[in-house]
Amino acid sequence: MATILYQDQLIPREQGKVDMEDRGYQFGDGIYEAIRVYGGRLFLLDLHMKRLERSARELALQLPYGIDQLTDHLKRLIKKNQIDDGLVYFQITRGASPRQHQFPENIETVLTGSATALPREEVLRPNGIKASLVDDIRWLRCDIKTLNLLGNVLAKQKALEKGSEEAIMHRGGVVTEGSSCNVFIVKDGRLVTHPADHFILNGITRLYVIDQLAPRLGIPVVEKTFSTEDLLEADEVFITSTGAEVKPVTRVEERTIASGKPGPITKRLMDAFDNEVARVKGSSALS
Ligand code: PDD
Repeated sequence: MATILYQDQLIPREQGKVDMEDRGYQFGDGIYEAIRVYGGRLFLLDLHMKRLERSARELALQLPYGIDQLTDHLKRLIKKNQIDDGLVYFQITRGASPRQHQFPENIETVLTGSATALPREEVLRPNGIKASLVDDIRWLRCDIKTLNLLGNVLAKQKALEKGSEEAIMHRGGVVTEGSSCNVFIVKDGRLVTHPADHFILNGITRLYVIDQLAPRLGIPVVEKTFSTEDLLEADEVFITSTGAEVKPVTRVEERTIASGKPGPITKRLMDAFDNEVARVKGSSALS
């Protein structure tokens, strides 16, 4: 039986109950994080926690626990569920109160979290995926990781109905990001991706590629907008996210990207990611 986190308590999944007037349920008034676990360890934890703190600040939402305490709760959750490779999901809502739009006074935020097994071979697609282009109809604060995901949900659903695995969203022809991932193209040996402004979520995997993997491999990165035309004519396309890591996109709609196979730069990044995961897992076996 799965164990979940409710505030600072680990409880059986079946006992997890949320008030019907919780503002996360009624307004999407809350924030979340999804953190990868490799070898029982939280991957890129500090970056996720920094983003969580920023999301909370932007919504004037008080975190229920300090980061060290919160981390401790997540570690207990992973241990209790005996997760080796998996995903930790947790959210914090503003809490429950009689329905009113403005912030109620003196309510307590509600933390819930789960840890589930997620073997890499179930999510990685080394041969690449097909994606569809979908209008980005979301609000203008996509940089905050809030529970309001209806625009993302509709985009993903549209892509699946078109026989694709992911939606690549655009605003008037400018590519923003995927429904639950960031989008990169490779052109003339350089990575190009949308700048981290209010139109996209600044993905932790995106940051990891830009700040760590690409520099290590000597691959230049440019953070600038690009068009759907640029996407279709790119040398390579890939997406990044906590679950997907670095995932090649080999078709967009009915168009094949370059040769239709994952490109050499994407492959180098995937290999570098693999090595890093192996390193993390190796060091967890020793500790
Ligand atoms: N999604 N953009 C959007 C809109 C996302 O929802 C996500 C992540 C990303 C990639 O961020 P990161 O590299 O930090 O995972 C970009 C998570 C995984 C989700 O909602 O399940």
